Amino acid sequence: MGLKSVLFVLVMAAAMGAPLMVAEAQLGSIGSLLSLTRIQGTVFCTADGNIGANGTATPIFPNAAVQLQCGNGNVVSTATTNSAGMFLILLNPLQFLLSSLTSNCSVLVNTPLSSCNATLPSVGNLVSGLNFAGTILQGLLSITNIIPRGFTFQPST
Ligand SMILES: *[C@@H]1O[C@H](CO)[C@@H](O)[C@H](O)[C@H]1NC(C)=O
Ligand SMILES: *[C@@H]1O[C@H](CO)[C@@H](O)[C@H](O)[C@H]1NC(C)=O
Ligand SMILES: *[C@@H]1O[C@H](CO)[C@@H](O)[C@H](O)[C@H]1NC(C)=O
Repeated sequence: MGLKSVLFVLVMAAAMGAPLMVAEAQLGSIGSLLSLTRIQGTVFCTADGNIGANGTATPIFPNAAVQLQCGNGNVVSTATTNSAGMFLILLNPLQFLLSSLTSNCSVLVNTPLSSCNATLPSVGNLVSGLNFAGTILQGLLSITNIIPRGFTFQPST
């Protein structure tokens, strides 16, 4: 590369770099908008809702209504499991602190187990507390992952 083209590259880099730095500074100040809390899990069609001894061959629980409950049973979000038994709840981290989600919230499966397997109970719920499962960066988006701690069957009272 001749001296002229080296200079051209440097000027172009400077011209493109300057607005980028401004953009980054602006993004930094609204950085909290670029983060997301993601609660994700799989509900299995078993007596306790967890994966069985047969591992991935364990039947899953599709179309199950899942509630995120906090404090005294307040339903703050809902989801439905897909054909793979998976549910996904996305939350604004500004509204839901990680510490209160893991200490004060749980996911509750509100569809009776009998709807995925007639030999399982038609009353009662699967319930699980929540665990922090790490934060990942996807481009400029910071995603805090939260997963069910493990379901237990709660007979209705
Ligand atoms: C595991 O799979 C075998 C063979 O399909 C079956 O007989 C057994 O009941 C399964 N066990 C559980 C815990 O689902
Ligand atoms: C748990 O929930 C209750 C009821 O909504 C609330 O008063 C309390 O502050 C919460 N605690 C935490 C740690 O979020
Ligand atoms: C239904 O549940 C019973 C009791 O857990 C189990 O033995 C049976 O294999 C299940 N059936 C299916 C189709 O998963």
